[in-house]
Amino acid sequence: MTENTLAVDSARAGAFAAAYPTRPIPAEGPVDTRAICETPSTSEFLDPIWKAVVTETRTRGNDIHLPISVAYAERLCDAYPSADRELVLVATILHDTGWAHVDESRIISEGFTGDWRKATIRYEHEHQGCVVARRVLPGLGYAPEFVERVTAIIEGHDTRHVAYSLEDALVRDADRAWRFDRAGIALASSWFSMDPATYTDRLAAEIVPELITAAAVEMATTDLARSNALLKTGVLR
Ligand SMILES: [Fe+2]
Ligand SMILES: [Fe+2]
Repeated sequence: MTENTLAVDSARAGAFAAAYPTRPIPAEGPVDTRAICETPSTSEFLDPIWKAVVTETRTRGNDIHLPISVAYAERLCDAYPSADRELVLVATILHDTGWAHVDESRIISEGFTGDWRKATIRYEHEHQGCVVARRVLPGLGYAPEFVERVTAIIEGHDTRHVAYSLEDALVRDADRAWRFDRAGIALASSWFSMDPATYTDRLAAEIVPELITAAAVEMATTDLARSNALLKTGVLR
């Protein structure tokens, strides 16, 4: 990354922070805190994209992670109607498709252990996700300018510390919110080789404070209470 790129990136992050000074960002609309299985994604216009990345959903539990994350993304868009809904949903579907194009044996060994947020494989999965977006979207009629907005969100969705836009923030929150649902806990705790109680403790201590929007905080904390009760994490520890 060049100095010039870094300056542009920090300017974008600064502009977004100035536009939304209150954190977490207060919801503009209704916040639905029901269990996510009550409101699966209903955006049929996304089906051609889903069909184009079926292969990419077969890696790293993407066929669980991505549909649940998109269901959360739809709720977040309802809570923040000023966001570009199509951009948020398309970026959420595609954000982790790059995992299918990296060395699978390194996903768990490097991507989920030690200083995993800085692991090289994390940068690689972001880059490969952008490659998938540029491969799939133009043929489905998406304009180059839209594709670039999608890839700007995918690039850095795990490794960048700050959001650049409301849409970027909603994708990042959807990518975290799914972990609080029981299915997310079941899958993600195994990636980190943690029992559910240890994992949910970590969600509360480390992931809730990372959420950018108040809607995501409300959904995540409600889900966490529900999941902890269901999985009896107060006892099974
Ligand atoms: Fe990711
Ligand atoms: Fe993800």
